[in-house]
Amino acid sequence: MQENKINEIIAKMTLDEKIGQLFTTWSHGEEDLDMVRAGRIGSMFIKVNAERTNEIQRVAVNESHLGIPIIFGQDVIHGQHTIFPLPLAQAASFDPSVAERVAHVSAAEATAEGVRWTFSPMVDIARDPRWGRIAEGYGEDTFLCSRMAEATVRGYQGDDLSDPTKMCACVKHFAAYGAAEGGRDYNTVDVSERMLREVYLPSFRAAVDAGAGTLMTAFNEISGIPCTANHNLLTGILRDEWGFDGFVVSDCWAVRELIPHGVAADGREAARKSITAGCDMEMESRLYRENLPQLVASGEVEESVIDEAVRRVLRIKARLGLFENPYVDEGRKSVILSDEHLNASQEVAARCMVLLKNEGGLLPLAKDTKSVAVIGPYVTEEKKFEWRGCWTVIGGPDSFTPFVDAVKGAVSANTEVIENDGSDPDFCGAIEAAKRAEVAIVVVGEDSDRAGEAHSVSDIGLQGNQEELVKAIVATGTPTVVVLINGRPLACTWLAENVPALLEAWHSGSGGALAAVDVLFGDTNPGGKLPASFPRVTGQVPIHYNHKNTGRPPIDPNGTWVSRYLDVVPTPLFPFGYGLSYTTFAYSDLKITPESPAMGQNIEVSALVTNTGSRAGDEVAQLYIRDVTASVTRPVKELKGFSRITLAPGESRRVAFTLTPESLSFIGQDLSPTVEPGEFRVWVGTSSDDGLQGSFVLK
Ligand code: NOJ
Repeated sequence: MQENKINEIIAKMTLDEKIGQLFTTWSHGEEDLDMVRAGRIGSMFIKVNAERTNEIQRVAVNESHLGIPIIFGQDVIHGQHTIFPLPLAQAASFDPSVAERVAHVSAAEATAEGVRWTFSPMVDIARDPRWGRIAEGYGEDTFLCSRMAEATVRGYQGDDLSDPTKMCACVKHFAAYGAAEGGRDYNTVDVSERMLREVYLPSFRAAVDAGAGTLMTAFNEISGIPCTANHNLLTGILRDEWGFDGFVVSDCWAVRELIPHGVAADGREAARKSITAGCDMEMESRLYRENLPQLVASGEVEESVIDEAVRRVLRIKARLGLFENPYVDEGRKSVILSDEHLNASQEVAARCMVLLKNEGGLLPLAKDTKSVAVIGPYVTEEKKFEWRGCWTVIGGPDSFTPFVDAVKGAVSANTEVIENDGSDPDFCGAIEAAKRAEVAIVVVGEDSDRAGEAHSVSDIGLQGNQEELVKAIVATGTPTVVVLINGRPLACTWLAENVPALLEAWHSGSGGALAAVDVLFGDTNPGGKLPASFPRVTGQVPIHYNHKNTGRPPIDPNGTWVSRYLDVVPTPLFPFGYGLSYTTFAYSDLKITPESPAMGQNIEVSALVTNTGSRAGDEVAQLYIRDVTASVTRPVKELKGFSRITLAPGESRRVAFTLTPESLSFIGQDLSPTVEPGEFRVWVGTSSDDGLQGSFVLK
């Protein structure tokens, strides 16, 4: 639908109808249907099925004055019915096609129920794993997050939003929500303009450039201005600088929260500040509905501001094809939980697994092992749904396989599988099981809902007596493998130091347990890498790899009068980008051309990667740079490229990256993107902590 058609509709709308388009609610009772009929609700984000969305849509289309269709939204975060690994886990694949596939399947299932708008992806950079919502994003690195963000948008939206199997992305939370003080959810954010533009905004920009139709404001303030009333953010940067023409929705109640934030005295002021800042649609609180009519009447808000917000909302509805095709085909429900989707969930989960330790090649386990003890709180039928991860709205446990059943399905007919959930006092049963077995697999971690919104914690170690359980099993002398399921980095130092094999399986969805077992018994060779650093102790956070050097870097890990804690070595337990394989890889022959590039020139960086082991495997080759001296301080390393490749035993491949002028740029003293001449260090390698090193001098 063309803009002039949208303008024709707006010309016919009453003010109340316009304001109706600027409201989304999760409630859909009879009185809400009356509001739909009156043209006073333009969007709903509700837990419904195809029949109910069609029923509500019929009221909007057939019984309201202008027949404007409803846009149905939902938090489809990592799957609708078929559940996929958490976004944080997806980032561990270092494979944007994984995120695209997840989004593609999620869209197929959600749109089959009438949902054409998902409140995803969350592209907030998270450097503090105490923050529960680290689970919902792509980790600590801006470059990795940006690549996953654009891939997710592509997966949801495809090339043509009017395709009924596609839905509009809502990129959130704009902006810097992950920088909450102390990792406490909803807390204050005070970041410099430089940090905002360098660390927190690029992933949003990448999603917008990939065509994302909508954005959601963040709950937090940035340096004193709450995002929902932040004109510089919602209009200056988003619209004027980036050219975004979709709409912005507030987070839930965030317009009303301008009052407790202390920037609005009452609902009227909150509504005025928010709509004039560029927040087009209000979620759940009803301050636009209650106050905009008077604000327009008094001239405090120009009607043209309302018209522009409505235009943006109708534009997205038009792009979704809702005016021509408002209903969902109820016959499409058969795609839900199809074998294809469930297989995708298992395959994706397998690509997200990260092998953290494998001493003596304990893994993979032989399928004809005589006996395996399967121990821990997350192995049972009862707890299988804890593998799903936070923020699932619809998907239920039926698509999940208990971990113990997955093991039984993998081992030989003669293998004895001894199950114990480790819940009895003193772990007697678990110890007995381990003693009887040739090998013990212990699954520990956190419940799905321990991470996620409003689930920040002050201690990211293993909870309860889980570490004691692992200690008791290790003490039996039976070789022990620990599988972690979690939605955030865990400070699991004892495990890393004392358990021979450690697999990070994350909260990995419907196919997660099956995928973990595929890894444990060698059907999958793990190739994921950590998207966020794992600290040794909680007190070490934030401990992201791309920190600044400071004037007193802790070069000697035991040095004094340097920037470190006295009671812990100044390195993470496992660094960003780290992950092992059942095979080994060697890097050689780093090439950087030209050696002395001119300003504006691209630089080609490549290295030879060789599979030096005896199994085929995946390696994620990573490119980092450091701008050694500049007019503002630069991080000690910055990821600028990655490539996940599969190599047969003995196979070598040259992995090549291009550094563009943009890759070398930073936010300069004048707060604009700047490239300065001088030395750049370059690394290509297997993690942020390793790699071949070279350099070039930019003339
Ligand atoms: C609040 C959350 O912050 C946001 O991410 C979510 O999309 C909305 N609630 C709607 O459920």
